Amino acid sequence: MGYKTKEWRNAMRVKVDYNYMMARSLGERGIKDSELRALKGKAEEAFEYVAANRGKDELYMGWTELPYNQDEIVADIIATAKQVRKKFKYFVVLGIGGSALGPIMAFNALKHLHYNELPPKKRGGPKFYVEDNVDPVRMQALLDVIVPEETCFNVISKSGATSETMAQFLIISDILEKRGVNLTDNMILTTDASRGNLIKIDEKFGGKFKKYVLPDGVGGRFSELCPVGLLPAAVLGIDIKGMLAGAAYMDGLCSKPSISRNPALACAALQYVTMLQGKNINVLMPYSDNLKLMADWYCQLWAESLGKAVDYAGNKVNAGTTPVKSLGVTDQHSQVQLYIEGPYDKVITFISVEKYGTEMPIAHGLEDIPDVGFLGGHTMQELIQAENKATAYALMRAGRMNYTIVMPEVNAFTLGQLMFLLEMQTAYTGALLNINTFNQPGVENGKKATFALLGKKGYEAQKKEMDEAPALEDKYTV
Ligand code: PA5
Repeated sequence: MGYKTKEWRNAMRVKVDYNYMMARSLGERGIKDSELRALKGKAEEAFEYVAANRGKDELYMGWTELPYNQDEIVADIIATAKQVRKKFKYFVVLGIGGSALGPIMAFNALKHLHYNELPPKKRGGPKFYVEDNVDPVRMQALLDVIVPEETCFNVISKSGATSETMAQFLIISDILEKRGVNLTDNMILTTDASRGNLIKIDEKFGGKFKKYVLPDGVGGRFSELCPVGLLPAAVLGIDIKGMLAGAAYMDGLCSKPSISRNPALACAALQYVTMLQGKNINVLMPYSDNLKLMADWYCQLWAESLGKAVDYAGNKVNAGTTPVKSLGVTDQHSQVQLYIEGPYDKVITFISVEKYGTEMPIAHGLEDIPDVGFLGGHTMQELIQAENKATAYALMRAGRMNYTIVMPEVNAFTLGQLMFLLEMQTAYTGALLNINTFNQPGVENGKKATFALLGKKGYEAQKKEMDEAPALEDKYTV
């Protein structure tokens, strides 16, 4: 509720520090002020493109309005979540890609890191699982720890035609029916308003499922702030109004067409300039276990949005840079050696936290062993922040571009800001590249090939083509 006062909102403002991208810090290897100035016109065009098309369903830009147009839905979600929390011991999301990564990320960010292991009173809500794969071992593992009759399954699929989610749906429906449970009592569907198979399934059940709409103009990877993410978050007791307020606040911060006054446009410009220099790896490295899965969510957002073969003019561009997830400080002991001394092909985005959710003093001891003794009397927050600063500095000294998104705290409001910042950054970068940021033809092709392999009607020609493809040869198998 703190987000209701202006002072608190300002104190919680997420900022971007890009000093270590610039020539002033990096010398020859940095971006010159003049390069950003040269981009001014193009950045303004990208800004205008996004501003002019906000909310347009036909362009899949409905996500920009989610912070503003969901009052009724939010009230309904909060009421439903209350019932679910009372009635069920387990809450399981069945979904994949954009229908799963957001709920997992928000759960990781805003709930206890060992939430499911907490005693029920401390947890306050049902145990929570997101099943975003069709590995049979994982499905069995889930079934080993839940009681299906006591579980609310939230089936999330815009199309209702995603093989992974629908296979899970069939397995779970069968189990529930065999145990005499009405599916409509234990399942909530989140899907397209009128198209798609979940609607057909609901019709078969007389429209009795509780349903939420994944709005027309909102693609999977931009859907965390609609019922896809809001329902699971509310079931977990997360302040979803706070998340939306944070997104709206960041939207306000991104309302200027200027790189120096719009954080998302600044990030997009930095990414774009470095792409042109051939830096094709984009690392996201939060220094927070709560934000570890933010990097997974971001990787999908970035990869599916910007990895495109052609631009709007029909030119073959094969656009995009490869997102890599990393975790501070853990990956300092695994990847950072490469970042500092390997090829100059990366831009590293850190996410720093100014105030962690808890404090952990480091006890004094072993003062006679200098490698250890100096730690006593400090805190873990000091240690992680020092390592974050030191890594950014060492990278800069080695001529490696990096910038930092600074989160005052990790809470619903700042998480909403961070999501919206990264979504806007992606939309602006796509506009700078003149590509369609919001489709995913490559993913669709993979889905179709799976349909063909499993003998789905209508995909016979593709099956034939795949069967006739040159046989895999033994000489290339070791
Ligand atoms: O971002 C996207 O659009 C995709 O990742 C989809 O979310 C994913 O393929 C799942 O699709 P659906 O929600 O139709 O099951």
